[in-house]
Amino acid sequence: MATIVRLPGLTDAHVHLRSPGGEHKEDFITGTAAALAGGFTRLLAMPNTQPPLVTLERWLAAQERADHEARCDVHLLAGAAPEHLAALPALGQRAVGLKLYMDETYGPLRMTALPHLAATFDGWPQARPIAVHAEGASVAAAIGLAAACGRAVHICHVSRRAEVELIAKARAQGLPVTCEVTPHHLFLTADDAARLGPWADMRPTLGSADDQAALWAALGQTIDCVATDHAPHTPAEKRGANPPPGVPGLETALPLLLDAVHDGRLTLERLVALLDTNPRRIYGLPAQHESWIEVDLAARHTLANECLYTKCGWTPFAGRPVVGRLLRVCLRGRLLVDDGRVLDYQEE
Ligand code: DOR
Ligand code: ZN
Ligand code: ZN
Repeated sequence: MATIVRLPGLTDAHVHLRSPGGEHKEDFITGTAAALAGGFTRLLAMPNTQPPLVTLERWLAAQERADHEARCDVHLLAGAAPEHLAALPALGQRAVGLKLYMDETYGPLRMTALPHLAATFDGWPQARPIAVHAEGASVAAAIGLAAACGRAVHICHVSRRAEVELIAKARAQGLPVTCEVTPHHLFLTADDAARLGPWADMRPTLGSADDQAALWAALGQTIDCVATDHAPHTPAEKRGANPPPGVPGLETALPLLLDAVHDGRLTLERLVALLDTNPRRIYGLPAQHESWIEVDLAARHTLANECLYTKCGWTPFAGRPVVGRLLRVCLRGRLLVDDGRVLDYQEE
């Protein structure tokens, strides 16, 4: 028997929509169709595009394109680059947040020198979050910089027990540190990486079962949000000699989390906090009027590569049975998804 419940439209605080420069992987049209099919009505998109969004001119052009093409709300973060520090004050007036890459990942955006980092933490407006890609000891560096500069910091995709434990300690000291976790770090481990090879390679890489247990224990307490880090790459790229890191996640996050609700590992209230209230609070975004999603908590199905809206056309979760399915999405009074399918959408 169906068990239908209505929830707010969800916010994914961390996706890669690849425009400009990577439209063969994803674009604003396909990425936001995938978002809607996954129950997300708002996306925060990362600036590690080609070229990266590190100047006001580039950021404005990309945001304008997003505003025209996207089927749900898209807010672009600006990127921090050592050679474009002077652009930060103007970007800080417009962008929803700043993304800072302190460690190696996909694309050339990176900042490691202390003078650049200090100037960035000092120069970005207090009211707009700084989100960092920081792994291991870089998490400590990010927290230290934020504390020294008297401002908040948001740690992206925590993946290791030691990171979560350090963030919990920082918060216990009263430091304004928030963080997010990805579905792949919650539902996969290094064993899956060994099985799936490039199809489960991403940054941060998958952790151990012990890391995974720490992430689940911290969910909704030390960990504020689930954010997908939707990072599409084509099958040809993943099969190639140098497969780029990253996996798609927009269409599988909600069914995986609903399955956890079914298993009793998560409550619906906490799911809403992780995917709506907390990301909105951190980025200062209002609720969307007349916007909701409807899910069937009892529907059984199997996640699959077929019927995905993401242009990359695959998921590391293919073959996984889950209980819980998205039925309908309404954004500002308009029904955009019915029976799990995006309405008025021309599929290629
Ligand atoms: O695996 C990743 N892929 N991690 C990141 O931080 C970036 C992302 C991408 O853009 O492909
Ligand atoms: Zn990252
Ligand atoms: Zn990312």
